[in-house]
Amino acid sequence: MNILAIESSCDDTSIAVINKNNVLSNVISSQPIHTDYGGIVPELASRAHINNISSLTLSSLKIADIDIKSVDAIAVTSEPGLMGSLIVGSSFAKGLSLKYNLPLIPVNHIEGHIYSGCLEDETLEFPFISLVVSGGHTSLFLVKSYTNFETIGMTKDDAAGEAFDKIAKLMGLGYPGGPVIDKLAKEGNPTEYDFPRSMINTDDFDFSFSGLKTSVRYFIQKNFEFPLKEKDKQNLAASVQSAIVDVLKHKTYKAAKKYKVKNIVIGGGVSANSLLRNSFLKLEDKGYKIVLPKMEYCIDNAAMIGFLANKKIEHSDNKFNNLTFRVSSRPMRSK
Ligand code: KG4
Ligand code: ZN
Repeated sequence: MNILAIESSCDDTSIAVINKNNVLSNVISSQPIHTDYGGIVPELASRAHINNISSLTLSSLKIADIDIKSVDAIAVTSEPGLMGSLIVGSSFAKGLSLKYNLPLIPVNHIEGHIYSGCLEDETLEFPFISLVVSGGHTSLFLVKSYTNFETIGMTKDDAAGEAFDKIAKLMGLGYPGGPVIDKLAKEGNPTEYDFPRSMINTDDFDFSFSGLKTSVRYFIQKNFEFPLKEKDKQNLAASVQSAIVDVLKHKTYKAAKKYKVKNIVIGGGVSANSLLRNSFLKLEDKGYKIVLPKMEYCIDNAAMIGFLANKKIEHSDNKFNNLTFRVSSRPMRSK
């Protein structure tokens, strides 16, 4: 069973070919155009998807070394995401499905991230705690099987990646800000400034990062002049990064203890953060298994969409012949 998977929910166009659990190709094209605007411009994202999607599909099939006629099903991200971006991917997928008379499996993008750990590590066992942490999402899930998971916490305002990006903007750094802060933080002192760890001690598993952004804004206005000195940038970056990672790690660890789960999976672009990776890996000393998928499965990618589509086919009697589904921009709360 060859599945051609299409992901275009935000600003990355990705096309993958999956055979059972094997990734035959996973082509990802990001859109540098947004850098000039300091954030994603939805209309430009949709246009770039339109420009990229056909040629990327051909490249992906070529890398997988198969013809479109050898494809058995199409998978596509149907929610959540930017409306225009989702429409480009789903319309393209519906077109292919009609032309080649193939089943079409709509896949939830966040579910793709949740199960990306299984794509990476076939030995991973249920249940596990999944932290999905990106520019658009920061949520914790208790995952019991391929068809059963529970949302146990989510951000009440900004996502962690959004906090990295917005704070980097305040500091006059480029977009996306996460990688820049990560790099600067390597030379800085994480205890130089004590920024708030919002909601770290609440009994739930929700997050909040907008207070941190506001606190950093006022702190910079009060104490620094622009352009910031290199050492100040480094110390600010290290202190901000430490505040964000502390909360993510603390709440995830608390969830694993509460639900008595020994496996933890982290997905989404922020899992590239070096402090986050090192901090979570330290939990292995306490007997936890930490799965940090390789970066091409952490960022937005079609491999995770195709992988989950394959599981959906395996675990349901659905014929997946409904081409009338609508895309949705809304994030999910629970399943
Ligand atoms: O998953 P992703 O590629 O796209 C979505 O947001 O869905 O994640 C992008 C986010 C951006 O906010 C970016 O700043 C953040 O991931 N990011 C990082 C790092 N690399 C990417 N944040 C912190 N440290 C990094 N090294
Ligand atoms: Zn994502």
